Amino acid sequence: MPEAETSVANGIGNVAAPRHVAIIMDGNGRWAAARGLPRGEGHRRGVESLRATVRAAGELGIEVLTIFSFSSENWSRPPAEILDLMGLLRRFIRNDLAELNSSGVRVRVIGEREGLDPEIGGLLDEAEELTRNNTRLTLVVAFNYGSRQEIARAARKVAVEVAAGRLAAADVTADTLSSYLDAPDLPNPDLIIRTSGEQRLSNFLLWQAAYSELVFVAAYWPDFNRAMLENAIAEFRGRERRFGGLAARAGS
Ligand code: IPE
Ligand code: IPE
Ligand code: MG
Repeated sequence: MPEAETSVANGIGNVAAPRHVAIIMDGNGRWAAARGLPRGEGHRRGVESLRATVRAAGELGIEVLTIFSFSSENWSRPPAEILDLMGLLRRFIRNDLAELNSSGVRVRVIGEREGLDPEIGGLLDEAEELTRNNTRLTLVVAFNYGSRQEIARAARKVAVEVAAGRLAAADVTADTLSSYLDAPDLPNPDLIIRTSGEQRLSNFLLWQAAYSELVFVAAYWPDFNRAMLENAIAEFRGRERRFGGLAARAGS
């Protein structure tokens, strides 16, 4: 069967619902600019989209939702925008943590924690600690996150083990390195969604995305909604994941 027929429309595809969905929440600034508003207003509206998306993800039975909230490279933005973004993160945790906790969300944080503002570091710790026994949905917040930096951190930890004689260099495999990443116990993302029409990963989950399906959505992040999430999942389910093997064929 030609690949084009493996589509959402005819419902053919070998794909189960995604366990782990990761989102690059992009386009806040352009959303604001299109309305003559300051970029900060786009970020504020972006937090509302995030709230709605977390709720929808829980309702849709997604196990893990990872969100890219601030990249290692976002420090290169103007100081006022960085202050805005840090303020929003603090407010999001302060205002939403109790509700996330009561709705069964477990919060995890990936990214570099060293050198963060101590108040933000404390809030991130508190969010992880308070919600550690929740099981309905794991919300992974990628904050001060860069994938190359994460892989370098893992490589440093492996190097320490090798230097101490606890691990042989010849025994370092892809699985070894994986086990030193920031959240090694979580499944790899099945589906990565990026909003705003940009089609790149921008240093997000490079290792974990080896076999992720990518879906690019034209809408800016503040306009993202549950229907768009459901459409992205439907597109994902119409794909054929092969993992380097051969296509599954009916009857074979
Ligand atoms: C995403 O929106 C939020 C962060 C990167 C923190 P942007 O701020 O990147 O918005 P655009 O891409 O400039 O429109
Ligand atoms: C990626 O978006 C980072 C986040 C969404 C937090 P950017 O807006 O920083 O990415 P580039 O610069 O367009 O690649
Ligand atoms: Mg952007």
